[in-house]
Amino acid sequence: MADSTPANWRLTDDYLSATLVGHDAQLEAALAAQTEAGLPAIEVAPVAGKLLNLIARMSGARRILEIGTLGGYSTIWLARAAGADGEVVTIEAEPENAAIARASIDAAGVGERVAIRIGRASDVLPTLEGSEPFDLVFIDADKQSNTIYLDWAATLGRDGTVIALDNIGRDGEVVRADSVDPMVIGTRDALRMLAEDPRFDATALQTVGSKGWDGFAVALVVAS
Ligand code: DHB
Ligand code: MG
Repeated sequence: MADSTPANWRLTDDYLSATLVGHDAQLEAALAAQTEAGLPAIEVAPVAGKLLNLIARMSGARRILEIGTLGGYSTIWLARAAGADGEVVTIEAEPENAAIARASIDAAGVGERVAIRIGRASDVLPTLEGSEPFDLVFIDADKQSNTIYLDWAATLGRDGTVIALDNIGRDGEVVRADSVDPMVIGTRDALRMLAEDPRFDATALQTVGSKGWDGFAVALVVAS
C-alpha cells in the first residue's frame, strides 16, 4: 500500500525536481538572494516554475505579464520562455523586493527583456492599457485582489491569452464557504469568476510537495 503522507509527497516533489528540473545556478542564486534579503519563501516550486515556462512556450507567448514579482524567481522562468525577442512586464508593490528581483533577473542574463513596474498592481495595470495584448498573464500577488487582476488580464489580453493563477488551494481552506480569511475569500471569488464570467474557460489543479498543499488555476481568455 502506498504511503500517502505529506512527507512522501515532499520526497516525491524533491525527486521530480531533481530529475526534471535539476540544478540551475541562476535560479538557485535568485533564491539565495531572496533568502539573504529576508523575503518569504513563497515563490513557486521548481516544478511549477518549469511548468509556467513550458506553458508559455507551448502557447508561443512573447509578451508576458506577471503580477507579483517577489524575488524574481518565477520572472526568470517566464523571461526564459519569452525568448530574446520577448518581454515580461512584472509588477511588484514592494520596492525592496523589486531591487532584489532586478539584480537576480539581470544576473540570470534576461534583464533586457524584463521591465519591473513598482507599485500596487491596481495602480500599475491601468497604465498598461493601449499596449500590445499580453499572451500570458501569471497572477501571484495579494489574493484579495484576484478578481481585479483577472479582469485586467482579460482587458490586457486577447482571445487566446493564457492565465495562470497561483495559490488556489490554501491548505484546503478554499473549500470553506464561511471563511473570513480575506485570502481565502479572494481565492474563492476568483474561482467563481473563472467559472461564471464568459470571458474565461478554466480549470484548477491541487499541488502538494515542497510548497505544501496548494494549487493553481489555468485559464484561457475566450471570445465572449
Ligand atoms: C502566499 C502567497 C503566495 O503567492 C504563495 O505562493 C504562498 C503563500 C501568502 O501570502 O501566504
Ligand atoms: Mg504564489
